[in-house]
Order: sequence, then C-alpha cells, then structure tokens
Amino acid sequence: MKTLHLLAVCAALVLIVSEAPGQDAATGEARYAETCINCHGKAGKGMASFPSIVGRDADYIADRLMQYRAREMVGPNSAIMMSWAEKLSDEEIADLAAYISATFQ
Ligand code: HEC
Repeated sequence: MKTLHLLAVCAALVLIVSEAPGQDAATGEARYAETCINCHGKAGKGMASFPSIVGRDADYIADRLMQYRAREMVGPNSAIMMSWAEKLSDEEIADLAAYISATFQ
C-alpha cells in the first residue's frame, strides 16, 4: 500500500514537472506583438528613449521584467516599463524572455 502511495506521488510530480509553464517562444512572440512591439520594435532595436533589447540572454530579460514588475527603478524611464510589467505573469515573463533572447540577436 505504501509503495502504491509513493508511486502515485511520483506520477503526480512527473505530471507537474512536464506541465511546468513558461519558456514557450511562440507564445512569447504573440505576447510581444500585443504591446511590447510598439516601443521596442519588430526587431527589438527600440527607438528614441525606448531601449534596444537585442543580444540579451533569457535570464537578463526575465530579471529585468521581474524588477519592473516589483516596481524597482532600473534606469531613468523604469516607470514606463512598470505599468507594462505589472500585467505579466511568471509564465508570460518566461515566454517573452525565451522569444526575445532567441529572436533578437
Ligand atoms: C510604452 C513603451 C514601452 C512598452 C509598451 C514596453 N516597453 Fe520595455 N522599455 C521601455 C522603456 C522606456 C525602457 C527603459 C526603462 C528604464 O529606464 O529602466 C524599457 C526597458 C525594457 C527592458 C530592459 C532593457 C535593458 O537593456 O535593460 C526590457 C527587457 C523590456 N523593456 C522588455 C519589454 C517587454 C517584454 C514589453 C512587453 C511586455 C515591453 N518592454 C513593453 C518602454 C516600453
């Protein structure tokens, strides 16, 4: 009986791990096109006071988005990003980071 219970717990864990959210670049692309593209551009190069996000790795992008979401000042115009980042879930941040780091080289 104990073994069966253990097996059930293992199966549940495997399910949770395999359904771990995030890091889906295709979903990130769709999310990027909704809003981010308006300021950071189609190729991530930015414009005027909107910075380029080209050549950054996924961790960098995710860290930044989490900082903005936590309302931390990162640069002079962080307030602009905070209002966008506070709408993002952990999953959306992971998806966006995967898309941006893989696409904007
Ligand atoms: C209204 C314009 C605007 C929109 C929309 C916008 N951003 Fe930004 N973004 C900015 C500005 C301005 C900064 C610089 C903020 C600062 O000074 O800290 C920035 C900074 C960033 C940075 C950090 C860049 C670096 O080199 O550290 C990342 C990453 C980023 N944005 C990603 C996104 C993503 C992903 C979205 C969509 C969810 C998005 N942005 C939407 C204007 C925008």
